[in-house]
Amino acid sequence: AKVTTTEMFKKAYEGGYAIGAFNVNNMEIIQGITEAGKEENAPLILQVSAGARKYAKHVYLTKLVEAAIEDTDLPIALHLDHGADFDICKSCIDGGFTSVMIDGSKHSFKDNIELTKRVVEYAHKKGVVVEGELGRLAGIEDDVNVSSEDSSYTQPEEVEDFVKSTGVDSLAIAIGTSHGAFKFTPEQCTKNADGVLVPPPLRFDILSEIEKRLPNFPIVLHGASSVIPKYVDIINKNGGKLADAVGIPEEQLRKAAKLAVCKINIDSDLRLALTAGIREHLTVHPDHFDPRQYLTPARAYIKELVKHKITDVLGCNNKA
Ligand code: G3H
Ligand code: 13P
Ligand code: ZN
Ligand code: NA
Repeated sequence: AKVTTTEMFKKAYEGGYAIGAFNVNNMEIIQGITEAGKEENAPLILQVSAGARKYAKHVYLTKLVEAAIEDTDLPIALHLDHGADFDICKSCIDGGFTSVMIDGSKHSFKDNIELTKRVVEYAHKKGVVVEGELGRLAGIEDDVNVSSEDSSYTQPEEVEDFVKSTGVDSLAIAIGTSHGAFKFTPEQCTKNADGVLVPPPLRFDILSEIEKRLPNFPIVLHGASSVIPKYVDIINKNGGKLADAVGIPEEQLRKAAKLAVCKINIDSDLRLALTAGIREHLTVHPDHFDPRQYLTPARAYIKELVKHKITDVLGCNNKA
C-alpha cells in the first residue's frame, strides 16, 4: 500500500535499522528498486526531486509508483526530495505524495522555521508527513552547488527548538555526508594500503548530541551513496571517465542505521549502477540499438545494488 513514513520510522528506530530512500526518474529505476524490495520484503521510500518532476512529469512518476505498489504489494512511501518552497510541497501534497521534504536549510534559522511550519500545517491537514533540514551539506543539488566552505554541520543546540516550533516529522542533518559521486576531493582524503581514497569520517559525536536532545525522533541522512567501486570501474572500463569518485564508506552507514538515522538517501549509486549496465552492454554489443537490450542489464544492476543496500547496509530486509 501507499503509506506515510510514520510507521516505517517508528519500527526502524526501535529495531535499529534504516529505510532506504531511493531517487526515481523513470520506469526502469522504479522497477529495479521495487523488485529488490519485493525479494527482500523491505519497506521502501521512493523519492522524486524537482529535477525528476521536470524530466518525467509528476503524473508519470506518481502513476509508475502506483503501478509498482500494485505489482509488489509492499509498503511504499512517495516522497518529495528537496522541496525548495511552499508551492512545490503543496503541489506534491495535493498530487498524491505521502511525504514531502521542505529544504529550508539555505535560509536563516528563523526563516527556515517559518517556511517549514507553513508546510507542516498544510501537509498535516492532508495526512502527509514532512521532513525538515538543519545544516548544510556540501555537493551538488539541482541548481545549488554548495562548496565545502559554505557547508556546515547541524548545530545540536538548534534541533529541539526547530522540531518543536515547526512540528516536522523527521529531520535531515549535516554530519559530513555530501551529494553526488565526488563527495570529497583527493586532498580531503587519506589513502589506505590498497591506494583507495578514504574520506574523513562522519561526525558521530554530533549525531549522538542530536539523539540526546531528540529522543525517539527519526533522523535523515542525505548524500549517503557509497559510490561502489564495482560500478565506477565498469563505467571507466567501458569508455567512461569518472576519476576520483568517492562516497561514504558503508561501514559508517551501517553504524548510522543502527542509531537514530531512520532514512538513508541514495541517488548517485543508482545512477552509477544504471550507467554501468548500459555502458557494459553497449561495449559488448556495439550493434545493439533496441533500448530494451541495454536497459535490461541496467535495471538488473539497479536491483542488485538495492538488494545489497537493503540486506548489507540498511538492515531493513524482512521489515515490510
Ligand atoms: O539531492 C539531490 C538528488 O540526488 C536529486 O538529484 O536534483 O539531479 O534529481 P536531482
Ligand atoms: P547521493 O548523491 O549521495 O546519492 O545523495 C542523494 C540524496 O541525498 C538525495 O536527496
Ligand atoms: Zn539530498
Ligand atoms: Na536507525
